[in-house]
Amino acid sequence: MEKLAINGGSKIRNKPFPAYKVINSKEIKAVEKVLKSGILSKFLGSWDPGFYGGPQIKAVEKEWARYFKVKHAISVNSCTSGLYCAVGACGIGPGDEVIVSPCTMSASATSILVFNAIPVFADIEEDYFCLDPKSVEKRITKYTKAILVVDIYGQPYDREKINALAKKHNLYIIEDCAQAIGATYREEYAGTLGDIGVFSLNYHKHIHTGEGGMVVTSNDKLAERIRLIRNHAEAVVGKMGVNNLVNMIGFNFRMTEIEAAIARCQLLKLKNLLKKRTSNANYIAEKLKSLPGIIPPALRRGCSNVYYIQCFKYDENIVGISRNKFINAVKAELAPTKGREREGILIAARGGKPLYLQPIYQKMIAYGKKGCPFKCPWYKGKPNYKKGICPVAEDLNNKQLFQLDLIHASMEKKDLDDVIKAFEKVYKLRKTIK
Ligand SMILES: Cc1ncc(COP(=O)(O)O)c(C=O)c1O
Repeated sequence: MEKLAINGGSKIRNKPFPAYKVINSKEIKAVEKVLKSGILSKFLGSWDPGFYGGPQIKAVEKEWARYFKVKHAISVNSCTSGLYCAVGACGIGPGDEVIVSPCTMSASATSILVFNAIPVFADIEEDYFCLDPKSVEKRITKYTKAILVVDIYGQPYDREKINALAKKHNLYIIEDCAQAIGATYREEYAGTLGDIGVFSLNYHKHIHTGEGGMVVTSNDKLAERIRLIRNHAEAVVGKMGVNNLVNMIGFNFRMTEIEAAIARCQLLKLKNLLKKRTSNANYIAEKLKSLPGIIPPALRRGCSNVYYIQCFKYDENIVGISRNKFINAVKAELAPTKGREREGILIAARGGKPLYLQPIYQKMIAYGKKGCPFKCPWYKGKPNYKKGICPVAEDLNNKQLFQLDLIHASMEKKDLDDVIKAFEKVYKLRKTIK
């Protein structure tokens, strides 16, 4: 009799899933050329032509701007540093609030704290998991300076409603599109939907340079401030003739020539990688939707989703057992992914723990021992990070969502079929799970 692997039966698959491999001879040749040139970086942290970087940096920024149809693309060494540049460039500082999604990676919110401003978490949408415009509206106060939207799991935020709120209240929109490169909202690219967009090129992303990031904007003033923060602003502003010194403590967020050369090759591959990933996600969704209670991700009207992660909803009332039990049984049927063995099977019973539940917010201690910036005297608002402030985000994380990270472009039909078989087997035998 058929038996679930979690109950001691045999697994659907023992062989590891293929690694996501996007680096090949093109990148190797490009890097070799850079190495042979001997110029691994040409940045100078002073007012000099080298302030804008070397030949590969200039080339990738030009190509990126053309691809995403923006005036400026500014390379950085991570999306985290790109977010710091973005928040800093907007002049956000002590006493200010920025509304942000709680369902994201920590850097979306720490980029606000770094400038001693206060992250205010608004709830997310039931179906698309991005910031919910209704909740955002409720969180706007006289201290709000920006909305930091996150195109989570690969799908753009509700540009129409959120941009309208920003316009009405004179707020900046910073778009964290780390997970949504190439996704579109009515033919326009994620990252270009607000004032500033920030991409990640870390090694988990659709295309990557190991570590890296790219900031885009069509606003000349913001672009120049982003470049300053990337490269030791305070040492540059004097000779450059910049008088606005707000947030002009600069960093070293510079990308090297090697990563820039890799990014140029990767950008050329993006379209095909996304095509395969989308077709893989659609294939899995089509098969799993025949299992009542397993609900594939909804697509916002006029948008495309690039499925950084394929995030399903799970209805415990229909399936009849808890999400965690079900997903643990599916995982027991499958194998890890090559190169990521330590992470186990790349399926997770969660939506992402809301950020405000992290100790830094619960204890309200970021800088020093005195509760800065939350209790800083310049800040006149009242931060609220209590459990329950974003009920949708909490419920989705605790009960309803599960994430599938098994759709990347190196997954072939036979690999996807094993994932589907595991779900079907567990679904059929779910009543036998102890
Ligand atoms: C939504 C989001 N924002 C920011 C980041 C930070 O990216 P990086 O690792 O390039 O700093 C990530 C990374 O996973 C992310 O998923």
